[in-house]
Amino acid sequence: MTGNTFALKDSIRRQTLELLRHMSDAERQAQSVAIQNHILELPAWQQARTAMLYMHMPHEVATDKLISCLQEAGKSIVVPKCQGDNLIPCLIDNPETDLAITPWGVREPFRDPLRIITPSELDFILIPGVAFDRQGGRIGYGRGYYDRFLAQMSGGGYVLAAAYTEQLVAWCPRQDWDYQIPRVMTEEGVILWQK
Ligand SMILES: Nc1ncnc2c1ncn2[C@@H]1O[C@H](COP(=O)(O)OP(=O)(O)OP(=O)(O)O)[C@@H](O)[C@H]1O
Ligand SMILES: [Mg+2]
Repeated sequence: MTGNTFALKDSIRRQTLELLRHMSDAERQAQSVAIQNHILELPAWQQARTAMLYMHMPHEVATDKLISCLQEAGKSIVVPKCQGDNLIPCLIDNPETDLAITPWGVREPFRDPLRIITPSELDFILIPGVAFDRQGGRIGYGRGYYDRFLAQMSGGGYVLAAAYTEQLVAWCPRQDWDYQIPRVMTEEGVILWQK
């Protein structure tokens, strides 16, 4: 059964990534702008003082506008860094100078010493992913980084995933460790599955 679940997740992951590859740059850009504009209107975003944002890969919903807004507002910008099996939230000042591209193509904090903060200090956490369903199911890249990270959240921070509608699927198989994503923002607005 577990083997089946992994295989099913992998098949949905591949199909969705294929769909994303077929989106044009113009579609990705327009939808990313719409998604970020929706996020900027959220009271939870406006009230947040410390926000963790992923640095997007070319096929993912962009986060550049959100980062600029945090910078302009003088708010704390947190970017995750993969270390071993863990995702480490690190404060950065400037995405232009404080990030380096890893061999797997993700921009991560690299300055020594890292300015690590605890997950409980985060007011807002934006989650990437490959596929999402409408019941809080999420399929990421298959390493469990976000599941392990979100399991440490003590309930204070506002957790939101960002996805194009192309990433919404009927059902994401769930395993014991899979964190239920409370809400996802698409270009059509927020999808909520938590009261
Ligand atoms: N809380 C946890 N404790 C131990 N192992 C975990 C935990 N969460 C996830 N894992 C491990 O991570 C692996 C991948 O999990 P999963 O398929 O759910 O990844 P994913 O959600 O697609 O990836 P990601 O969150 O990195 O985008 C699994 O082999 C699982 O054993
Ligand atoms: Mg998972």
